[in-house]
Amino acid sequence: MNESLRLGVNIDHVATVRNARGSGYPDPVRAALLAAEAGADGITAHLREDRRHITDADIARLSAELPIPLNLEMAATEEMLGIALRHTPHAACIVPEKREELTTEGGLDAAGQHNRLAPMVAELASVNVRVSLFIEPDPRQIEAAMRLAVPVIELHTGKYAELSGAAQAEELRRLSDAAALAAKNGIEVHAGHGLTYDNVAPIAAIPQVRELNIGHFLIGEAIFVGLADSVRRMRNAMDEAR
Ligand code: PXP
Repeated sequence: MNESLRLGVNIDHVATVRNARGSGYPDPVRAALLAAEAGADGITAHLREDRRHITDADIARLSAELPIPLNLEMAATEEMLGIALRHTPHAACIVPEKREELTTEGGLDAAGQHNRLAPMVAELASVNVRVSLFIEPDPRQIEAAMRLAVPVIELHTGKYAELSGAAQAEELRRLSDAAALAAKNGIEVHAGHGLTYDNVAPIAAIPQVRELNIGHFLIGEAIFVGLADSVRRMRNAMDEAR
């Protein structure tokens, strides 16, 4: 039998809407609490270098108020490391970050950045933060994650979400193979980016995947059906696929 699959709800884009007007609402912490009530197993928030959505104050409040684990997405910078060490979230997912990008494009080059990442991973691990690396489903990157001794990787499903037909099937195979390779080597596998009700099932069905992190679609769907329903329906789609 497949092991259970957790849903991490990314609340960044509640903050995007708030920041569009420089007002105090909608409040991403309120959204996180509601998502938790509706069945989210964790909350993910990306504190970007430019603070375009989530702010330092949001991270402080999420750390203090959440009844479920917080997964802090962060770039591999000294500033973000300091913030993570101060708040010690349950997990920290290291992502590549470019100022000009609309969203996280492509995975982290864990293979090319070993020397930069190794001390960060060690420092975070020393305060019991579960470190994950957001990487492409590429055996080279998984081997690099093994060398860095991270407990978790998150596979980037952005390409899969954009493709269709045979090309999508091929990308799904790469994701599946990558998940099997990582799990065989003792690394917990998460996945995320661009997932929707329509494309989540094949990813949720990969037996080694233990957690999905989903944001943009759920927050957009909440406009039409409310956040609780949006989260519940995703939970059901994941459970059915399992
Ligand atoms: N996982 C990671 C590491 C991400 O950077 C993002 C986007 O912030 C997501 C998951 C969620 O992607 P989406 O908002 O497209 O669902």
